[in-house]
Amino acid sequence: MNWLRKLFTKPQVDDGRDPTQSNAYDIIGGDNVIRAIAHDFYQQMQTRPETQALLAIHRSPIADSEQKLYEFLSGWLGGPPLYQQKHGNPALRARHTPFAIDESMRDQWLICMRAAINNAIKKPEHQQVIIQAISTLADNMRNQ
Ligand code: HEM
Repeated sequence: MNWLRKLFTKPQVDDGRDPTQSNAYDIIGGDNVIRAIAHDFYQQMQTRPETQALLAIHRSPIADSEQKLYEFLSGWLGGPPLYQQKHGNPALRARHTPFAIDESMRDQWLICMRAAINNAIKKPEHQQVIIQAISTLADNMRNQ
């Protein structure tokens, strides 16, 4: 991911990660911070009046969805690829086709994610670059 490589230096780790990938994961604070983002994301969704339509299309217990989001973000940010190890290829767009995702759903998703990132990540420049990349990913999830 070029946008991450530009901002962050390469990791000095030997735990199976691809050393050519960014170490955004380490720089923003590793596992605890990723867990906090996933948890806060679903807290936001459950408490904001403007994101109730998004909450309503969830079918699994929220704890399960939170766990999967945490696992995905870990690998996506250059940390341990937990989602891949447990569930295989993320193929995120395909996994979202059962849900009607239009601009409004995307925006609700991003409201929660933006808040969670801003709460969990300290440096504004890190918040910014990750929000930018995840916004592109979220827009790619639209199927309507
Ligand atoms: C843009 C709007 C998006 C909407 C409306 C949306 C909605 C959903 C819904 C309803 C589920 C199913 C949860 C359940 O089973 O109850 C889901 C699963 C998931 N979403 Fe999203 N999502 C969006 C974007 C994203 C993005 C950008 C990511 C990655 C950063 C993501 C990561 C995931 C993951 C990892 C799962 C679990 C997939 C699985 O293994 O079943 N989603 N999403």
